[in-house]
Amino acid sequence: MNEKTIKWGILGTGSIAGVFAKDLAFAENTERTAVGSRSLESAEKFAEEYGVSRAYGSYEELLQDSEVDAVYIATPHPFHKENALACLRAGKAVLCEKPFTVNSGELEEIVEFARDQKLFLMEAMWTRFLPSIVKVREWIENGEIGEVLLMKADLGFRAPWDPQWRLLNPDLGGGALLDVGIYPVSFASMIMGTNPEKILSTAHIGETGVDEQFSIILSYASGKTATLNGALRVELGKDASIHGTKGSISIPSFLSAKSAILYKDGKEAETFTDDRESKGYAFEIEEVGRCLRQGLTESPVMPLDESLEIMKLMDTIRGQWGLKYPFE
Ligand SMILES: NC(=O)c1ccc[n+]([C@@H]2O[C@H](COP(=O)([O-])OP(=O)(O)OC[C@H]3O[C@@H](n4cnc5c(N)ncnc54)[C@H](OP(=O)(O)O)[C@@H]3O)[C@@H](O)[C@H]2O)c1
Repeated sequence: MNEKTIKWGILGTGSIAGVFAKDLAFAENTERTAVGSRSLESAEKFAEEYGVSRAYGSYEELLQDSEVDAVYIATPHPFHKENALACLRAGKAVLCEKPFTVNSGELEEIVEFARDQKLFLMEAMWTRFLPSIVKVREWIENGEIGEVLLMKADLGFRAPWDPQWRLLNPDLGGGALLDVGIYPVSFASMIMGTNPEKILSTAHIGETGVDEQFSIILSYASGKTATLNGALRVELGKDASIHGTKGSISIPSFLSAKSAILYKDGKEAETFTDDRESKGYAFEIEEVGRCLRQGLTESPVMPLDESLEIMKLMDTIRGQWGLKYPFE
Protein backbone atom coordinates (compact mmCIF):
# COMPACT_ATOMS: atom_id res chain seq x y z
CA MET A 1 0.00 0.00 0.00
CA ASN A 2 1.25 3.48 -0.85
CA GLU A 3 1.33 5.39 2.45
CA LYS A 4 1.77 9.15 2.49
CA THR A 5 5.35 10.09 3.31
CA ILE A 6 5.63 12.39 6.32
CA LYS A 7 8.15 15.15 5.69
CA TRP A 8 9.93 15.97 8.93
CA GLY A 9 11.52 19.18 10.08
CA ILE A 10 13.90 19.16 13.04
CA LEU A 11 14.03 22.24 15.25
CA GLY A 12 17.35 22.50 17.11
CA THR A 13 20.62 20.67 16.45
CA GLY A 14 21.62 19.46 19.93
CA SER A 15 22.40 15.97 21.11
CA ILE A 16 18.93 14.38 21.05
CA ALA A 17 18.12 15.97 17.68
CA GLY A 18 20.98 13.93 16.19
CA VAL A 19 19.75 10.67 17.71
CA PHE A 20 16.24 11.39 16.44
CA ALA A 21 17.49 12.25 12.95
CA LYS A 22 19.34 8.92 12.77
CA ASP A 23 16.25 7.05 13.88
CA LEU A 24 14.11 8.71 11.21
CA ALA A 25 15.86 6.37 8.78
CA PHE A 26 14.32 3.37 10.59
CA ALA A 27 10.77 4.74 10.51
CA GLU A 28 8.58 3.80 7.56
CA ASN A 29 7.42 6.47 5.10
CA THR A 30 9.38 9.40 6.45
CA GLU A 31 11.69 11.93 4.89
CA ARG A 32 14.35 14.05 6.58
CA THR A 33 13.23 17.20 4.85
CA ALA A 34 14.67 20.15 6.78
CA VAL A 35 16.51 21.26 9.90
CA GLY A 36 16.50 24.67 11.58
CA SER A 37 19.07 26.05 13.97
CA ARG A 38 19.90 29.44 15.47
CA SER A 39 23.08 29.14 13.42
CA LEU A 40 23.23 28.34 9.71
CA GLU A 41 26.60 26.70 10.17
CA SER A 42 25.19 24.31 12.74
CA ALA A 43 22.15 23.55 10.57
CA GLU A 44 24.36 22.84 7.54
CA LYS A 45 26.67 20.59 9.53
CA PHE A 46 23.69 18.71 10.95
CA ALA A 47 22.06 18.36 7.52
CA GLU A 48 25.22 16.93 6.05
CA GLU A 49 25.81 14.52 8.93
CA TYR A 50 22.25 13.15 9.00
CA GLY A 51 21.23 13.41 5.36
CA VAL A 52 18.66 16.18 5.83
CA SER A 53 17.64 17.83 2.55
CA ARG A 54 17.53 21.51 3.58
CA ALA A 55 19.26 23.54 6.29
CA TYR A 56 18.02 26.85 7.70
CA GLY A 57 19.80 29.37 9.93
CA SER A 58 16.67 30.16 11.95
CA TYR A 59 13.66 28.33 13.31
CA GLU A 60 11.36 30.79 11.50
CA GLU A 61 12.77 29.81 8.10
CA LEU A 62 12.27 26.12 8.92
CA LEU A 63 8.63 26.81 9.70
CA GLN A 64 8.17 28.65 6.41
CA ASP A 65 9.16 25.54 4.48
CA SER A 66 5.80 24.56 3.04
CA GLU A 67 6.89 20.97 2.39
CA VAL A 68 7.45 20.21 6.08
CA ASP A 69 4.46 18.31 7.54
CA ALA A 70 5.67 17.68 11.08
CA VAL A 71 8.26 19.34 13.29
CA TYR A 72 10.24 17.65 16.04
CA ILE A 73 11.17 20.14 18.78
CA ALA A 74 14.54 19.37 20.40
CA THR A 75 15.36 22.52 22.35
CA PRO A 76 15.72 22.79 26.17
CA HIS A 77 12.37 22.65 27.99
CA PRO A 78 11.91 26.38 28.72
CA PHE A 79 11.69 27.00 24.96
CA HIS A 80 9.18 24.26 24.17
CA LYS A 81 6.13 26.47 24.64
CA GLU A 82 7.36 29.25 22.36
CA ASN A 83 8.68 26.76 19.77
CA ALA A 84 5.52 24.65 19.78
CA LEU A 85 3.26 27.67 19.40
CA ALA A 86 5.40 28.92 16.50
CA CYS A 87 5.15 25.53 14.78
CA LEU A 88 1.39 25.38 15.27
CA ARG A 89 0.95 28.95 14.00
CA ALA A 90 2.78 27.82 10.87
CA GLY A 91 0.27 24.95 10.52
CA LYS A 92 2.73 22.16 11.34
CA ALA A 93 2.07 18.97 13.28
CA VAL A 94 4.24 18.91 16.41
CA LEU A 95 6.18 16.24 18.24
CA CYS A 96 7.75 17.99 21.24
CA GLU A 97 10.54 16.59 23.40
CA LYS A 98 9.90 15.74 27.03
CA PRO A 99 9.07 17.30 29.37
CA PHE A 100 6.39 18.85 27.18
CA THR A 101 6.81 22.19 28.98
CA VAL A 102 8.14 23.44 32.30
CA ASN A 103 4.71 23.67 33.94
CA SER A 104 1.06 22.92 33.29
CA GLY A 105 0.13 26.55 32.59
CA GLU A 106 2.47 26.57 29.58
CA LEU A 107 1.13 23.25 28.37
CA GLU A 108 -2.49 24.36 28.67
CA GLU A 109 -1.74 27.25 26.27
CA ILE A 110 -0.24 24.97 23.63
CA VAL A 111 -2.94 22.31 23.94
CA GLU A 112 -5.70 24.89 23.68
CA PHE A 113 -4.15 26.41 20.57
CA ALA A 114 -3.53 23.02 18.89
CA ARG A 115 -7.09 21.90 19.61
CA ASP A 116 -8.48 25.18 18.36
CA GLN A 117 -6.49 24.88 15.11
CA LYS A 118 -7.18 21.12 14.85
CA LEU A 119 -3.48 20.37 14.54
CA PHE A 120 -1.60 17.31 15.73
CA LEU A 121 0.39 17.67 18.95
CA MET A 122 2.19 15.06 21.07
CA GLU A 123 4.82 14.84 23.78
CA ALA A 124 7.77 12.74 22.59
CA MET A 125 7.35 10.12 25.33
CA TRP A 126 9.10 7.53 23.15
CA THR A 127 9.20 4.86 25.90
CA ARG A 128 5.45 4.26 25.51
CA PHE A 129 5.79 3.19 21.90
CA LEU A 130 8.58 0.64 22.40
CA PRO A 131 7.49 -2.95 21.60
CA SER A 132 8.48 -4.15 25.11
CA ILE A 133 6.28 -1.52 26.74
CA VAL A 134 3.41 -2.30 24.35
CA LYS A 135 3.82 -5.95 25.44
CA VAL A 136 3.79 -4.95 29.14
CA ARG A 137 0.50 -3.11 28.67
CA GLU A 138 -0.92 -6.13 26.84
CA TRP A 139 0.13 -8.49 29.68
CA ILE A 140 -1.53 -6.22 32.23
CA GLU A 141 -4.70 -5.76 30.14
CA ASN A 142 -4.94 -9.55 29.71
CA GLY A 143 -4.79 -10.01 33.48
CA GLU A 144 -1.51 -11.95 33.37
CA ILE A 145 -0.37 -10.55 36.75
CA GLY A 146 -3.81 -10.05 38.24
CA GLU A 147 -4.63 -6.74 39.85
CA VAL A 148 -1.67 -4.36 39.86
CA LEU A 149 -1.04 -3.16 43.41
CA LEU A 150 2.47 -1.74 43.40
CA MET A 151 5.10 -0.45 40.99
CA LYS A 152 8.61 0.97 41.17
CA ALA A 153 10.60 2.95 38.62
CA ASP A 154 13.99 4.62 38.91
CA LEU A 155 16.03 6.69 36.52
CA GLY A 156 19.27 8.46 37.23
CA PHE A 157 22.85 8.87 36.18
CA ARG A 158 25.99 10.68 37.25
CA ALA A 159 25.98 13.86 35.18
CA PRO A 160 29.28 15.74 34.75
CA TRP A 161 29.47 18.70 37.14
CA ASP A 162 28.85 21.75 34.97
CA PRO A 163 26.60 24.39 36.54
CA GLN A 164 26.02 26.01 33.13
CA TRP A 165 24.86 22.78 31.49
CA ARG A 166 21.12 22.56 30.94
CA LEU A 167 20.68 19.73 33.44
CA LEU A 168 21.93 21.80 36.37
CA ASN A 169 21.17 25.30 35.09
CA PRO A 170 17.90 26.78 36.44
CA ASP A 171 17.68 29.21 33.50
CA LEU A 172 17.48 26.19 31.18
CA GLY A 173 14.91 24.35 33.32
CA GLY A 174 17.53 22.10 34.97
CA GLY A 175 16.81 19.50 37.62
CA ALA A 176 16.22 15.78 37.92
CA LEU A 177 12.42 15.86 37.98
CA LEU A 178 11.94 17.65 34.66
CA ASP A 179 14.77 15.86 32.88
CA VAL A 180 14.83 12.24 34.05
CA GLY A 181 11.87 12.28 36.47
CA ILE A 182 9.30 12.73 33.75
CA TYR A 183 9.96 9.13 32.67
CA PRO A 184 9.07 7.37 35.95
CA VAL A 185 6.22 9.83 36.55
CA SER A 186 4.78 9.23 33.08
CA PHE A 187 5.31 5.47 33.48
CA ALA A 188 3.35 5.50 36.75
CA SER A 189 0.58 7.44 35.03
CA MET A 190 0.44 4.85 32.25
CA ILE A 191 0.29 1.88 34.66
CA MET A 192 -1.61 3.24 37.69
CA GLY A 193 -3.68 6.05 36.16
CA THR A 194 -3.56 9.80 36.45
CA ASN A 195 -5.17 10.37 39.83
CA PRO A 196 -3.02 9.58 42.85
CA GLU A 197 -4.83 10.27 46.12
CA LYS A 198 -1.65 11.16 47.99
CA ILE A 199 1.62 12.58 46.72
CA LEU A 200 4.61 12.30 49.04
CA SER A 201 7.93 13.61 47.81
CA THR A 202 11.27 14.93 48.86
CA ALA A 203 14.24 16.33 46.92
CA HIS A 204 17.76 17.51 47.44
CA ILE A 205 18.12 20.99 45.97
CA GLY A 206 21.77 21.47 45.04
CA GLU A 207 23.94 24.56 44.89
CA THR A 208 22.67 25.68 41.47
CA GLY A 209 19.13 25.74 42.90
CA VAL A 210 17.71 22.73 41.06
CA ASP A 211 16.78 19.27 42.33
CA GLU A 212 19.72 16.89 42.02
CA GLN A 213 17.73 13.92 43.26
CA PHE A 214 14.22 13.11 44.39
CA SER A 215 12.02 10.38 45.77
CA ILE A 216 8.28 10.22 45.23
CA ILE A 217 5.59 7.92 46.58
CA LEU A 218 2.20 8.10 44.90
CA SER A 219 -0.69 6.33 46.53
CA TYR A 220 -3.91 5.51 44.74
CA ALA A 221 -7.33 4.19 45.69
CA SER A 222 -7.28 0.84 47.55
CA GLY A 223 -3.77 1.43 48.84
CA LYS A 224 -1.99 0.91 45.50
CA THR A 225 1.39 2.63 45.37
CA ALA A 226 4.11 3.76 42.98
CA THR A 227 7.61 4.52 44.23
CA LEU A 228 9.73 6.66 41.91
CA ASN A 229 13.30 7.93 42.18
CA GLY A 230 15.41 10.16 39.99
CA ALA A 231 18.95 11.51 40.25
CA LEU A 232 21.59 13.51 38.40
CA ARG A 233 24.61 13.02 40.68
CA VAL A 234 24.58 9.25 41.23
CA GLU A 235 24.18 6.17 39.09
CA LEU A 236 20.76 4.74 39.78
CA GLY A 237 19.25 1.58 38.41
CA LYS A 238 17.08 2.45 35.43
CA ASP A 239 14.69 -0.40 36.04
CA ALA A 240 10.97 -0.63 36.58
CA SER A 241 8.84 -3.39 38.04
CA ILE A 242 5.12 -3.90 38.32
CA HIS A 243 3.60 -6.17 40.94
CA GLY A 244 0.16 -7.75 40.84
CA THR A 245 -1.90 -10.26 42.79
CA LYS A 246 -0.89 -13.12 40.45
CA GLY A 247 2.64 -12.22 39.39
CA SER A 248 4.98 -9.42 38.39
CA ILE A 249 6.74 -7.82 35.44
CA SER A 250 10.30 -6.63 35.41
CA ILE A 251 11.54 -4.12 32.82
CA PRO A 252 15.31 -3.63 32.76
CA SER A 253 16.27 -0.09 31.64
CA PHE A 254 12.61 0.74 31.15
CA LEU A 255 13.37 4.09 29.51
CA SER A 256 14.74 2.39 26.40
CA ALA A 257 13.34 -1.08 27.20
CA LYS A 258 14.61 -3.84 24.93
CA SER A 259 13.01 -6.56 26.99
CA ALA A 260 10.38 -7.28 29.62
CA ILE A 261 10.04 -10.35 31.81
CA LEU A 262 6.74 -11.79 32.99
CA TYR A 263 6.76 -13.81 36.23
CA LYS A 264 3.53 -15.69 36.81
CA ASP A 265 2.92 -17.67 39.97
CA GLY A 266 3.85 -21.32 39.40
CA LYS A 267 5.06 -20.76 35.80
CA GLU A 268 8.42 -20.31 34.16
CA ALA A 269 9.39 -16.70 33.49
CA GLU A 270 8.49 -15.44 30.00
CA THR A 271 10.83 -12.94 28.36
CA PHE A 272 9.80 -10.63 25.55
CA THR A 273 12.76 -9.30 23.57
CA ASP A 274 12.82 -6.56 20.99
CA ASP A 275 15.77 -6.88 18.60
CA ARG A 276 15.27 -3.51 16.95
CA GLU A 277 18.11 -1.85 15.10
CA SER A 278 16.97 1.68 15.84
CA LYS A 279 17.61 3.44 19.17
CA GLY A 280 13.86 3.28 19.69
CA TYR A 281 12.61 6.68 18.55
CA ALA A 282 11.37 5.20 15.27
CA PHE A 283 8.24 3.88 17.02
CA GLU A 284 7.03 7.29 18.22
CA ILE A 285 7.87 8.68 14.76
CA GLU A 286 5.70 6.01 13.17
CA GLU A 287 2.91 6.79 15.64
CA VAL A 288 2.90 10.40 14.45
CA GLY A 289 2.69 9.19 10.84
CA ARG A 290 -0.15 6.81 11.68
CA CYS A 291 -2.10 9.59 13.43
CA LEU A 292 -1.54 12.09 10.61
CA ARG A 293 -2.63 9.60 7.95
CA GLN A 294 -5.76 8.81 9.97
CA GLY A 295 -6.52 12.50 10.50
CA LEU A 296 -6.03 12.25 14.30
CA THR A 297 -4.92 15.36 16.15
CA GLU A 298 -3.62 13.43 19.14
CA SER A 299 -2.31 9.98 19.87
CA PRO A 300 -4.47 7.62 21.93
CA VAL A 301 -1.24 6.22 23.38
CA MET A 302 0.05 9.57 24.68
CA PRO A 303 -3.08 11.74 24.82
CA LEU A 304 -2.91 15.44 25.61
CA ASP A 305 -5.18 15.24 28.66
CA GLU A 306 -2.81 12.73 30.20
CA SER A 307 0.23 14.90 29.42
CA LEU A 308 -1.63 17.75 31.15
CA GLU A 309 -2.35 15.64 34.24
CA ILE A 310 1.29 14.56 34.37
CA MET A 311 2.47 18.16 34.15
CA LYS A 312 0.05 19.17 36.93
CA LEU A 313 1.43 16.38 39.08
CA MET A 314 4.98 17.60 38.43
CA ASP A 315 3.86 21.13 39.42
CA THR A 316 2.46 19.78 42.71
CA ILE A 317 5.66 17.87 43.40
CA ARG A 318 7.87 20.89 42.67
CA GLY A 319 5.51 22.96 44.84
CA GLN A 320 6.21 20.58 47.74
CA TRP A 321 9.91 21.40 47.37
CA GLY A 322 9.40 25.14 46.82
CA LEU A 323 11.25 24.88 43.49
CA LYS A 324 10.39 27.64 41.03
CA TYR A 325 12.41 28.55 37.96
CA PRO A 326 13.65 32.14 37.49
CA PHE A 327 11.48 32.58 34.38
CA GLU A 328 8.27 31.29 36.03
N1 LIG B 1 13.95 11.56 24.45
C1 LIG B 1 15.10 11.47 25.09
O1 LIG B 1 15.57 10.39 25.40
C2 LIG B 1 15.82 12.74 25.40
C3 LIG B 1 17.18 12.69 25.65
C4 LIG B 1 17.85 13.88 25.89
C5 LIG B 1 17.14 15.08 25.91
N2 LIG B 1 15.80 15.09 25.71
C6 LIG B 1 15.05 16.36 25.72
O2 LIG B 1 15.37 17.06 24.53
C7 LIG B 1 15.52 18.46 24.78
C8 LIG B 1 16.90 18.88 24.29
O3 LIG B 1 17.88 18.17 25.01
P1 LIG B 1 19.39 17.99 24.46
O4 LIG B 1 20.08 17.13 25.46
O5 LIG B 1 19.38 17.58 23.05
O6 LIG B 1 19.91 19.48 24.63
P2 LIG B 1 21.16 20.16 23.92
O7 LIG B 1 22.14 19.14 23.46
O8 LIG B 1 21.60 21.24 24.83
O9 LIG B 1 20.51 20.81 22.60
C9 LIG B 1 19.49 21.74 22.68
C10 LIG B 1 19.44 22.52 21.38
O10 LIG B 1 18.41 23.47 21.52
C11 LIG B 1 18.71 24.65 20.80
N3 LIG B 1 18.58 25.84 21.66
C12 LIG B 1 17.70 26.86 21.45
N4 LIG B 1 17.83 27.80 22.38
C13 LIG B 1 18.80 27.39 23.21
C14 LIG B 1 19.40 27.97 24.36
N5 LIG B 1 19.05 29.17 24.83
N6 LIG B 1 20.38 27.29 24.97
C15 LIG B 1 20.76 26.08 24.52
N7 LIG B 1 20.23 25.49 23.43
C16 LIG B 1 19.26 26.14 22.78
C17 LIG B 1 20.14 24.49 20.30
O11 LIG B 1 20.07 24.17 18.93
P3 LIG B 1 20.51 25.23 17.81
O12 LIG B 1 21.77 25.84 18.32
O13 LIG B 1 20.66 24.39 16.63
O14 LIG B 1 19.41 26.24 17.69
C18 LIG B 1 20.69 23.31 21.07
O15 LIG B 1 21.62 22.58 20.34
C19 LIG B 1 15.27 18.65 26.27
O16 LIG B 1 13.97 19.10 26.51
C20 LIG B 1 15.47 17.25 26.87
O17 LIG B 1 14.66 17.00 28.02
C21 LIG B 1 15.15 13.94 25.43
